[in-house]
Amino acid sequence: MDYIKDIIGFDAQAIDAQTADQLAQNGSDKWSRYPGCVGAFIAEMDFGLAPCIQRAIERATEGCALGYIPTPWKQQVAKACADWQRLRYGWNIDPTQVRVVPDVVEAFEIFLREIVGHGGSVIVPTPAYMPFLSLPRLYNVDCIEIPMLMNDASDNWLFDFDAIETAFRNGCRAFVLCNPHNPIGKVCTREEMLQLSALAERYDVRIFSDEIHAPFVFDGYHHVPFAAINEMTARQAFTATSASKSFNIPGTKCAQVILTNPDDVSMWDARCEWSEHQTATIGAIASTAAYEEGGLWFDEVLKYVARNAALVDERMRTQLAGVGYVRPQGTYIAWLDFRGLGIANPAQYFLEHAGVALTDGRECGAIGAGCVRMNFAMPYPLMERCLDQMAAALRADGLLPTASSTDALSRADLRDAA
Ligand SMILES: Cc1ncc(COP(=O)(O)O)c(C=O)c1O
Repeated sequence: MDYIKDIIGFDAQAIDAQTADQLAQNGSDKWSRYPGCVGAFIAEMDFGLAPCIQRAIERATEGCALGYIPTPWKQQVAKACADWQRLRYGWNIDPTQVRVVPDVVEAFEIFLREIVGHGGSVIVPTPAYMPFLSLPRLYNVDCIEIPMLMNDASDNWLFDFDAIETAFRNGCRAFVLCNPHNPIGKVCTREEMLQLSALAERYDVRIFSDEIHAPFVFDGYHHVPFAAINEMTARQAFTATSASKSFNIPGTKCAQVILTNPDDVSMWDARCEWSEHQTATIGAIASTAAYEEGGLWFDEVLKYVARNAALVDERMRTQLAGVGYVRPQGTYIAWLDFRGLGIANPAQYFLEHAGVALTDGRECGAIGAGCVRMNFAMPYPLMERCLDQMAAALRADGLLPTASSTDALSRADLRDAA
């Protein structure tokens, strides 16, 4: 018996065999928004549903459990989330500290509205997950973009702590920590977070810690929940997480906020009832199953994603050498910099010339001009095609040396192949 396929329910061969047409027919936004193109933009995975989640949803629909979210389901998902945090990261939290919201974006909106407040400001290290930049202005919060720095010697992204301290000194009292970091794939070290926390303490700053990608860390890296480090980080943090990335269930609408600052508990109880109420019962059921029973399925996802990451890495050193790129330490997203090749709008370029849909780096901050965000959580053969088509388009336009088997493809061939 194939244990991984038959017991765990992760079928890598079936995933490999999926076509772009099938994925589009399944209705995924990633594959249907740009018909005929390889979908590498929105952060969704193409690995199906963990059987434990499917069974839980089937049981729920059989039992007609689709009403407003009841307290017992809030409590169950809170306990499951707390258990996951303890087992995966050694973080002991009481389930009563875990509250539900429809999604992490809603948690960020609560942070902006209730903690930063009208007229305040927030630091967002860039490139950043897009809503971190667009949502603050809806709450009359000033968004301070601070570009990450590239350390060429270690091929590593670093925080610009000098610029961060200057902004704190000038009155900014909030910071967005996205760890692991979408879209650059950085996994923060404990030392970096301690340095951030020391600065935050000096200037009385609160940290929105988005840990939605926490399970996606590659060999050699470890996820450390910011709030778990010590009492000070716990007080500074407003942590948001979800099973939605790891299990590809963002449409079921249940994320979790972990409250480790006592003031946030009273704020939450007074002001966040309706955010909890908007959370989907089916999402709490799906997330509970994911956290309680989905660990082994996720471990297979991570292996598959790591294999795709190795492919991206290999192509960036060979076929696509010349593209700015740092190997991701986590997530399933890569940040590609085409400024060296003189492409002003690479997202548009690859959509039109290669049939590949990517996220325009400018949506991730001013630093993103000339860059794109690429999602590599897709079937391996489609990932190969995605990279082949990008490389062939560049070669066809004389932007890369011609050297491989895909040279013969014309632009029309590439569009047809997509
Ligand atoms: C870093 C990060 N935070 C939040 C989200 C959105 O999560 P949710 O669907 O729970 O709002 C995403 C989705 O890609 C993400 O990458």
